[in-house]
Amino acid sequence: MIRKPIFAANWKMNKGASETEDFVRSFLSKIQGQSFPCEIVIAPPFVSLPKLADLLHGAVQNASAIQIGAQNCSQFDAGAYTGEVNVLMLREFFVHFVIIGHSERRAIFGETDAIINAKLKKAREANLKPIFCIGETLAQREGGMLESVLRTQVTEGLQGLTEKDMAEIVIAYEPVWAIGTGVTATSQQAQDAHAFVRSLVAGLYGTDTAERIRIQYGGSVKPGNAAELMACPDIDGALIGGASLEPHGFLEIIRNGTVPLVE
Ligand code: 13P
Repeated sequence: MIRKPIFAANWKMNKGASETEDFVRSFLSKIQGQSFPCEIVIAPPFVSLPKLADLLHGAVQNASAIQIGAQNCSQFDAGAYTGEVNVLMLREFFVHFVIIGHSERRAIFGETDAIINAKLKKAREANLKPIFCIGETLAQREGGMLESVLRTQVTEGLQGLTEKDMAEIVIAYEPVWAIGTGVTATSQQAQDAHAFVRSLVAGLYGTDTAERIRIQYGGSVKPGNAAELMACPDIDGALIGGASLEPHGFLEIIRNGTVPLVE
């Protein structure tokens, strides 16, 4: 089973429209004439989506190399939800992927597994591909709760989603203690967690679905550690924060983290 790796830039609350344009023009010029055996996604802040959509669906060369992601979506349809953005609004800007359940959304904005589950369902209704984030805190890991935390996040987050939905979902394992800290999980820690998550998916949906689903690693991924992490059998790409803010760094991660696909 060959899973195509997926490298996604999560810019978090960085880069408005003009910085987005600078990044994209620079990134596309660097990859001119090259193709990579992976999918590449950029998830800017909501307000930069129109610019990204214009650039990627306009006349810029190489534009098809990049797919557009959003960092969040509402679990509701249109209506009185001040400050929220719904899935159909995202579709208007050619968004294909949406990050759901990031640990910052869970910790800072109080998103529960039930809310995340509702968002995953809403995203699938609009045929968006969720990047479903899970991961434990340091205290949970040190308290021996790694597996129970991941089990709860996976089972409650995915409740009611079908096998067909699972074909369009990417899971991102992001240990909270590795996010923005410069501390990366060792490749063994990451591989063990990924294999465990895959076994959870197998328990819920069967081995076929588990073998097909892509599980990204996120947490202080850098050009220098991408190759070792991506060489792990259950790691299928990366969700990158800080190091994706600069075109050269993002590209180096993709280069170092991809190996030619043998079909
Ligand atoms: P960093 O790459 O900055 O650690 O962030 C990881 C992350 O949270 C991506 O979603």
